[in-house]
Amino acid sequence: MAKIIAVVGSTGAQGGGLSRAILADTSGEFACRAITRDPNKDKARALASKGAEVVKADLDDVESLKTAFAGAHGVYAVTNFWEHFSGEKEKAQAKNIADAAKAAGVRHVIWSTLEDTRAFMSSGDTRMPMLQEKYRVPHFDAKAEANAFFGGVPTTYLVTSFYWDNLFMFGLAPKKGEDGQYSWTFPMGNEKLAGIAAEDIGRTAYGIFKAGQQYVGKTVGILGEALTIDEMGQKLAAGLGISAVKYNAVEPDVYRSFGFPGADEMGNMFQADRDFAKQMLANRSLEETKKLNPQLQSFDQWLQTNKGAVQAATQPAPAAAN
Ligand SMILES: NC(=O)c1ccc[n+]([C@@H]2O[C@H](COP(=O)([O-])OP(=O)(O)OC[C@H]3O[C@@H](n4cnc5c(N)ncnc54)[C@H](OP(=O)(O)O)[C@@H]3O)[C@@H](O)[C@H]2O)c1
Repeated sequence: MAKIIAVVGSTGAQGGGLSRAILADTSGEFACRAITRDPNKDKARALASKGAEVVKADLDDVESLKTAFAGAHGVYAVTNFWEHFSGEKEKAQAKNIADAAKAAGVRHVIWSTLEDTRAFMSSGDTRMPMLQEKYRVPHFDAKAEANAFFGGVPTTYLVTSFYWDNLFMFGLAPKKGEDGQYSWTFPMGNEKLAGIAAEDIGRTAYGIFKAGQQYVGKTVGILGEALTIDEMGQKLAAGLGISAVKYNAVEPDVYRSFGFPGADEMGNMFQADRDFAKQMLANRSLEETKKLNPQLQSFDQWLQTNKGAVQAATQPAPAAAN
């Protein structure tokens, strides 16, 4: 009988990639149980049409998770910070997943986590503000704190990377100006940023489920390629057939002051990626990621697949009608 993997976030980027990887595997070793709050949404229906069992559950409701995990061999655990912007809520949801996985006797959990950036600097370090009173980068630090909840469950700790898909998912693509020139702004200096195609996170997680118990208790840091902002800009220019992408390298304080929702959080995140690039890159292994996911894409390969979406994201927003 196929071993069931209950995929939290199945309608999203990480869990969607994993669900598609399970459903594309014709060996029949694993089956996909796609968890969503809304089984009627298009993304859930698309998974059902490919053979997923779609099950309704909510990360805020531990009993719904226990029911959703019953009989499952594996659970993919991911929380969505960007839906509520709260480190405390992210931890509470992670605890619910861990508690439910334990109650259901799940054999292998993969917890999608990130590093605790507070470990990189002393508590008195003034280079970046503390956010939500106790975090440097809440969506990193809270996930790292939540690692402890999975102590009583057979878990692999998956340290993910910046999705290149943020260029169109989070509005981070270079923008075409009125002068026809493309530019973008980051506080990354000339340091390399570990990036990955979002789809490859799920594919790599599937490699971990297939490899099985040898990964229980292990921390696995993954990436597709590490690139500076200028290197990404050059690849974008070549891939999109535009002359150049100008990089406005700003200081993190400037980025934090931009005022969009989460600007302080993103400013701290990019500053951690810049100031502690050596540690961030050391925490992720290209060799191990490729071993787990032989289809792993480089930035150029990801761009070829997502060229249309990136191109559309570079265009200025249409002027509002008055
Ligand atoms: N963007 C990046 O570069 C990046 C890099 C590393 C890590 N991350 C982390 O990735 C996480 C988000 O993952 P993603 O990008 O895969 O998400 P996503 O594409 O934004 O989709 C969110 C998923 O989470 C599910 N979800 C959210 N709240 C839920 C709840 N209360 N109960 C049940 N399901 C819930 C949604 O399911 P339904 O709506 O169908 O219920 C959906 O499937 C964030 O915490 C972020 O910090 C992001």
